[in-house]
Amino acid sequence: MNGDIDVSRHCNAVEFADGVYWIGALDPTLRTFDIILSTANGTTYNAYLIRGSEGVAVVDTVKENFSDEFFARLESEVDYSEIKVIVLNHLEPDHTGALPELMRRAPQAKLHISQRATSMLKALLKPSSDAFAYTTVNTGDRVSLGDRTLSFLHTPFLHWPDTQCTYLEEEGILFSGDVFGCHYCDKRLFNDRVGDFRFSFDYYYAHIMRPFKKHVIDALKLIEPLTLKQIAPTHGPILRERPRRYVTHYRELSTSSLTREIGSDDHSLVIFYMSSYGNTARMAEEISEGAGGVAGVRVSIYDLEGGETEPFVDLIEEADALLFGSPTINGDAVKPVWDLLSSLAVVNLKGKIGGAFGSFGWSGEAVRMIEDRMRGLKMHIPHEGMRVKLIPTEEELDECRSFGRRIAEVLIGKRRERAVIDFAYLV
Ligand code: FEO
Repeated sequence: MNGDIDVSRHCNAVEFADGVYWIGALDPTLRTFDIILSTANGTTYNAYLIRGSEGVAVVDTVKENFSDEFFARLESEVDYSEIKVIVLNHLEPDHTGALPELMRRAPQAKLHISQRATSMLKALLKPSSDAFAYTTVNTGDRVSLGDRTLSFLHTPFLHWPDTQCTYLEEEGILFSGDVFGCHYCDKRLFNDRVGDFRFSFDYYYAHIMRPFKKHVIDALKLIEPLTLKQIAPTHGPILRERPRRYVTHYRELSTSSLTREIGSDDHSLVIFYMSSYGNTARMAEEISEGAGGVAGVRVSIYDLEGGETEPFVDLIEEADALLFGSPTINGDAVKPVWDLLSSLAVVNLKGKIGGAFGSFGWSGEAVRMIEDRMRGLKMHIPHEGMRVKLIPTEEELDECRSFGRRIAEVLIGKRRERAVIDFAYLV
């Protein structure tokens, strides 16, 4: 009952608790996952099998082209006629690729999915989905395998709307789906045997879970009270040694440090800018002064010429309002501004207040383009951006201070902005 078996050579189920088996697949050569994620160590598609006195449950399956490996491991331990329950914690294709064939081989089995997974199941299995018996489950629902009981935790948006976790009560094992997972393929399977996978774990969190921090915190409220002997995610090592430290780490990663830094009563407004001849920089300073004069608003200002954009992502995630300043060059905002704006897909900006400003020589498109990008990120743009032709006059600098002050007043709720249509309200 351990990971000593070489799973890269033998397609057998690997027992890691009494009657609980890993029946997943290894994908060691994968170098890019979902087009955007680097996977220096490949990945695994973990699926599990639980044998109870009154039937067998399969938890999740694998990517379709790894089906042979999955079925070989499954067949090494059970007959298809024994399968009573199939649980899908998440319906993304890397975990449901083998499902249609599994349902064909075990037609008596009943699928257990979250309520939000229903439409995805129909889309996934069309047009044959009606032939499958399925039931939707929520937090507190349980299913019995005789001497084994599975209970369900409703943990949506980790990282799809459908996601849930399943807990094997008698063994204290949490089948967590993508949560606590990572793209790290190691045939030794278990966290106390594999290499150092901390980088992969944090990288996975940063790119998959980070935009859903609020939902992570909600899920942790359900997970933390559990007796946890092992965590069995759908990717990467099975966490059997000190599993709770991964739960603690998730809480740390999902908790804002800036809130503690500035106090919950203050609002954070961050200004980023680039400047060709000092004109946009001058605007940034005056906007900062105007905003900083509003009690309860703490303003930070950064010249993007001074460094890399990546360290700013944390600040942006934790800020309440963001202003971007750019000159217009060749009808566009400048590259460092776009670099920063394009790196924000990993954070949730919905509803944050945004604004843009900049000096221009001819046409001044940059400000509108930045505003469009912020709207695309579902930010709220309460005021039209500030554009100044070349060198700002004293009157225009006054307007910059006023612009900063008005944004800050919206931020603290002192000013009601005019009605605008923003993506933040449409989605
Ligand atoms: Fe591993 Fe979201 O699928």
